[in-house]
Parts: sequence; structure tokens; C-alpha cells
Amino acid sequence: MSATDLEPGELITDDWRIHGSVYTSQAVFAAELERVFRTGWLYVAHESQLRNPGDYITTRAGLQPVIVSRGGDTGEISVMLNRCRHRGATVCQADEGNANFFRCAYHGWTYSNTGELRGVTYDQAYEDLDKSSLGLIRLPRVESHAGFIFASFAAEGPSLAEFLGHAAPYLDLIAQQGPEGIRIDAGYHHIGYDGNWKLQVENTIDNYHFGFVHRSFLEVLADRVGQVPPIVRNILTNDEWRTIDLGNGHSVHEFGDPKTGNNQGQLGDLPFNLIVFPNLCFVGAQLRHVLPLSANRTEVRLYPMLHQGESDEYNAEILRVHEGFYGPAGMGGSDDVEIAFERVTAGMQATEHDWLIMSRGLHREEQMPDGRVVGRADDEVPQRAFYRQWQRSMGAS
Ligand code: FES
Ligand code: FE
Repeated sequence: MSATDLEPGELITDDWRIHGSVYTSQAVFAAELERVFRTGWLYVAHESQLRNPGDYITTRAGLQPVIVSRGGDTGEISVMLNRCRHRGATVCQADEGNANFFRCAYHGWTYSNTGELRGVTYDQAYEDLDKSSLGLIRLPRVESHAGFIFASFAAEGPSLAEFLGHAAPYLDLIAQQGPEGIRIDAGYHHIGYDGNWKLQVENTIDNYHFGFVHRSFLEVLADRVGQVPPIVRNILTNDEWRTIDLGNGHSVHEFGDPKTGNNQGQLGDLPFNLIVFPNLCFVGAQLRHVLPLSANRTEVRLYPMLHQGESDEYNAEILRVHEGFYGPAGMGGSDDVEIAFERVTAGMQATEHDWLIMSRGLHREEQMPDGRVVGRADDEVPQRAFYRQWQRSMGAS
């Protein structure tokens, strides 16, 4: 059976079989761009990247290149398509910077840092060009929560507060990590892999894999400290560790009480992992922004979260820990790319029986009075949380 034979409501069964085309089909991917990325709230940047008037970063919203900029006059944050109104070139090439103007390199049209078209070169060749209507296209809604900036292509819809719901208190806790908060202004490193963007999102809170995929890391750690790290045992037996479907596609893995819970002894690490639907993840001391490129190609930008108010030495140590697991020569990130993303994608080319099983712990999920759904640390509660919202967004009943 191919994806074209299945309606969105048929791609996931009631007993949590997921059709492989959810990960491999360009038709499903095209539908996601319309129904997931053009309808809801998307994380775009953190306020610490845009402290001063004129500061900007470039990123993507779905596949669409955007500039997130703090205006020079008002200090307001705009999210604008990075596309010249003349003949379509990107007007800003840098990842980040400070600029009063964005000047298109093709024919020199110039836009203010809030997107107004300010200058058209040799404009006498146009009979009646209405510059006031030719600014960079802005996303109609931009809102922040705890310093995290989100934007939406949809002019109408739930507010950011409504959308974040039970995920909001966790963003508040992240924002309070350092004595004076956090900063995400140390740049990022990125990985690219041949596989679907959802593989990275669902791997962020997949505690089941840790002892298998990261076995060599655990062995190195055991050699260094003289004993097997307790993480795998905790994942399977610690009753305080739990996964929670927070609603609206968001989910968390708590190591005990998120306010006081331990962080596995890693400097700067959060006492929980968090997924904010559809493509924002927090793990360790890292913000992870998952950027789809096609059904089978993904970019992930990994931003270390530094602690505002701590010394440079302290923050350098956070960076070292981050690099140790996730960096290009780190002991963990490349294992996930190889096994959890690319081997999965390779295996899913065997489409004769094209179904995955996502029912781990389904029978022991507990519904709380406020609607949250709780499971054990190694259950696939976060994945089901994601796909419940994915199905709603894709138009499945
Ligand atoms: Fe930008 Fe021509 S495409 S000025
Ligand atoms: Fe992993």
C-alpha cells in the first residue's frame, strides 16, 4: 500500500501502527508543509540573539527562508520572508548580524530592518511602482514566551499561550536556569542527515534507545568513573522518572520533580527533556531546532544554552560538555544520526510491509484530570503525543 492510497486518518492505526510513508513520502511532506508548518506556531529565535535594535538572525519557517529582526526604530521583532519583492533573491545571507538595511545583491533594492522597501535603483524605469506595498512579506503573528520567539503564517488561530498550554511552565523553568536567565547567543553547530525531520524530534525523548545506541558512550563513562552510569537502570526502574503528553503535541521527560530534579550530574543540563510541537526540542544544555528540507533530508541546529550571570569559565564548561556528546567528534550525536535516522530511513525502503510499532507502554498510560497523559520513562508517550497533534493538524479526525 502506498501513501497515495491512504488518507491522513489511515496513516496511524488505533493500536498505534504508523505507516512508513509518514516518514518517506514526498506527498506527506508536502501536506505537512501546508497543514503543520503553515497553520500553527513555529519557534524562530531566542530574544538573547536579538538584544539590540538592528540585530537579526536568519532561519527557516517550514521550507521558507525568514529573517527575524529587531527593528531599529521601535525595537519590535518582525519575522519576514527572506525574499526580494523584485525577482525573488534572498536579501540577507548571514546567519546573524546587525543591520539598518537589507540590500538585495541582484539589482540593489533596499529594505529597512523592519522590511519596508526604502530604495529602488534607477526607478525611473518604472511607471508606477507603489513602494509602500512592496516591503518584505511579514508573518502576521509573532509572540514570545519566556524569551522564546514564535511566529505563525496564520493570521487567526489559538494564541501562543493557548498553544503552549502545559508546555509553558517548562519553558519558564528553562528560562530560569542561570542566575540571570539563559542566553542562546553562542552560535550553533548543525548536522544534516538523510532522513525525515520527525525522526530527530521523536528521538529527543526516546529513552528506550539510550542503552543500545549509546552503549559505547556508556562504556567509556564506566571506564572513567569506575562504575556503570545509572541512567539505563533509572530509565527502566525509577518510578519518579516519567514521560508526559502535555497536549497540543508537546511532551516532556522528567527526572523526578522538574523544579528540583537531578540533571544527571552534567553541568548546565536541564532536569527534563522537552519537545514543543512541531520542531523545537530541549535536551541536556541544548536547544535543538529541527529544520526539514525534504521528506528524506533534515538539518538540525544545535544551540548550547549558556547561563547568564555565570562566569565565562562556567559557560565554557557547558560548551565542553555539549561538544563531548553532540559535537562533530562527540560520543553520542553521531550514533543517533547513523542508527536512529539513517539506518531507519534505509530500512524503511523495504516497503513490502510498511508499518512501524509505536505502542510501547500504551496499556499503562494514565490520564490525569487536566488532560495530560503520563507514562514511564521508556514508554513511547512522547511519540504518541507528537502524532496525536500531527494527525489533528493533517486533518485526520
Ligand atoms: Fe532583488 Fe532584483 S531580485 S533587486
Ligand atoms: Fe540518542
